[in-house]
Amino acid sequence: MPKIVIHAGGQRYEGEVKPETNLVVRAGIKQFPWPHLKYRCGMGRCGTCASRILAGAEHLPEPNWKEQKLLGERLEQGLRLCCQLWIRDDLELTQDLVQDSPAAAACS
Ligand code: FES
Repeated sequence: MPKIVIHAGGQRYEGEVKPETNLVVRAGIKQFPWPHLKYRCGMGRCGTCASRILAGAEHLPEPNWKEQKLLGERLEQGLRLCCQLWIRDDLELTQDLVQDSPAAAACS
């Protein structure tokens, strides 16, 4: 079972999830990492779920076109969109210090 560590609001939260899990889908049904994960559209449009991957990025698939479009060069800084990721292995991430994208601001 993949172990997920999320840093939010200066705190560290840890939980296990089933393989092939999407963290935004889980949060949507109020399962860990809810309520610590910020998200909105769940469709790769708003950027609210943008997270800096602290560990485990090597296990993630290549960014899809939605991540490339929304994150651009921020992909190289370790950001990914959680709503576009299906988790197979351990992952550690944070949304602290991740600025909302212009798309996220437009959704507000
Ligand atoms: S929740 Fe909107 S881009 Fe992921």
